[in-house]
Amino acid sequence: MALYALGDLHLGFQTDKRMDVFGRVWKHHERKVEKYVNKTVRQRDTLVLTGDHSWGRKLEQCREDLAFIERLPGRKVLIRGNHDMFWDAGKTARLNEEFDQRLFFLQNNFTFYEDYALVGTKGFTFEGPFYLDRWGNVTGWDEKREEQAKKLIDRELARLRKSFCLAEEAGYRKFIMFLHYPPTNILEETSVFTDIAEEYKVKAVVYSHCHGERRFGDSIRGEFHGVQYMLVSGDYLEFQPALILP
Ligand SMILES: [Fe+2]
Ligand SMILES: [Fe+2]
Repeated sequence: MALYALGDLHLGFQTDKRMDVFGRVWKHHERKVEKYVNKTVRQRDTLVLTGDHSWGRKLEQCREDLAFIERLPGRKVLIRGNHDMFWDAGKTARLNEEFDQRLFFLQNNFTFYEDYALVGTKGFTFEGPFYLDRWGNVTGWDEKREEQAKKLIDRELARLRKSFCLAEEAGYRKFIMFLHYPPTNILEETSVFTDIAEEYKVKAVVYSHCHGERRFGDSIRGEFHGVQYMLVSGDYLEFQPALILP
């Protein structure tokens, strides 16, 4: 058995959205996903998909994308991404009823892999706009947007804490934490998300959302304060699922 993760499939079988405008790596990327996931993930494994699954705005416009995900091997666990409009935050339980035994939607709940609880939420981080000087140094940012971001961060933190609490109540003491957004932004060294990861002594924080060479280094990668941070955006991994736990 093994635990894998991959983010940002950005599927659009029912839309005319083209991903190859974002670079060569996105050309027929869904074929790469299919190829690499089938090559790597076994039926008894767990695969966490860390958000931005579909371009469809309503569930009916995502049916083919979700069916594609269902056909991938392993037990599929989904995190909500900023583009996942089909996933109403208040209706996760309804999605889990509808896709029972096929897909698991992780938010305000938890699931497990062996003796690890898998907890997670979309997360959030202030992404600017930042103002730069001519040398590229940050000299300021949009403070109004930063205020709005704080509210979203609080809400996401509450959802994440609920996920941890439910897992703890169920007896779990080992955790892997999943986010869609990176845990910190380009100016931060720590955040409420790195704090909670340390509080619960999670083994790993797995996130995606960062696209393109220039964004891959926006947040923490590797070990920090005893926690392993892993970026699993599809384009970063060239669509090969990352092994989280053997
Ligand atoms: Fe994305
Ligand atoms: Fe995203």
